[in-house]
Amino acid sequence: MKALSLSVLIAAPLTFTSLSAQAVTLKLAHNLQNDHVVAVTLRHMAKEVSELTNGKVKIRIYPDGQMGGPRQTLEMLQQGALDMTKISGSELEPFEPAFSIFSLPYLFRDQEHFNKVIYGPIGHELEMLPKKNGFTLIAAYEAGTRSFYAKKPIRTPADVKGLKIRVISTPTTNKMIELLGGAPAPIQFGEVYTALQQGVVDAAENNIPSYVQTRHVEIAKYYSEDEHTAVPDFLAIANVAWKKLTPDQQKILRKAARDSEQYEAKLWDAQVKKSRAEAIKLGATFVKVDKAAFRAAMKPLWDSFRKDPVKDKWLKQIEAVK
Ligand code: GCU
Repeated sequence: MKALSLSVLIAAPLTFTSLSAQAVTLKLAHNLQNDHVVAVTLRHMAKEVSELTNGKVKIRIYPDGQMGGPRQTLEMLQQGALDMTKISGSELEPFEPAFSIFSLPYLFRDQEHFNKVIYGPIGHELEMLPKKNGFTLIAAYEAGTRSFYAKKPIRTPADVKGLKIRVISTPTTNKMIELLGGAPAPIQFGEVYTALQQGVVDAAENNIPSYVQTRHVEIAKYYSEDEHTAVPDFLAIANVAWKKLTPDQQKILRKAARDSEQYEAKLWDAQVKKSRAEAIKLGATFVKVDKAAFRAAMKPLWDSFRKDPVKDKWLKQIEAVK
């Protein structure tokens, strides 16, 4: 009896803490459709977090741009009106200059280089940089390479001349389009379909899954594989939201977020194949591109990065990854 009551006494405070941890519901908004692999991944992660915290931490997801575009949702994180969001590496440039690096065309040599940077020490250091702006990044997701698509094939930089092209608008992406002789158009992801349909823009650029899932493929039938950038998506959490969790819950969320990177990367390759096949079925043509010419046209952008101490520092570190 004595032994029993002693063990109850010892065990009690532990049980008490875990049971008394307050239930928290974190609101996560993103602009992807429900069948996008990142959307699937976020649901999977939310389920894992709920299970591992005995239902104490719930993540409620608002997909499809319901709460606005990434820039708005990130501002909501800063204001404490939202807990988590998904944001493309490019979209982080206005919040943290180092992230401009992701919009620098032809930054990564190949997939292995990308993986070592994004999932290694450089990626992890970058993820903590926005902390002073009110949020951090806790996962990075594969988002393939971005290429141009239009109603006509784009084989050389000369084919871009005079085209109005939707980009995730940042100083770096705008410069990329201008160097090719095009005009960059800042349009929200969810509004690109109408913009293409109504001829407000002539072209856009994205990875193959987004090209197909957004049905842009129906209008812009030529996907020209210049593969100018490889921009990961990131999962952001507000500092105030992070502080709502107990240390144990933080550990669980951190691990689930990291695990979700691998989960998503596995789904990604299959999705690219599937989307490519679907695009062809819908009448799309995949165009071979003179990549060397596109790369050469980007030289002034590279030169400007070399001249900027912050950008150059990151560029050098990334280049040094073998
Ligand atoms: C990709 C990316 C999204 C981004 C979108 C865009 O689909 O995964 O995070 O919002 O491109 O071009 O806006």
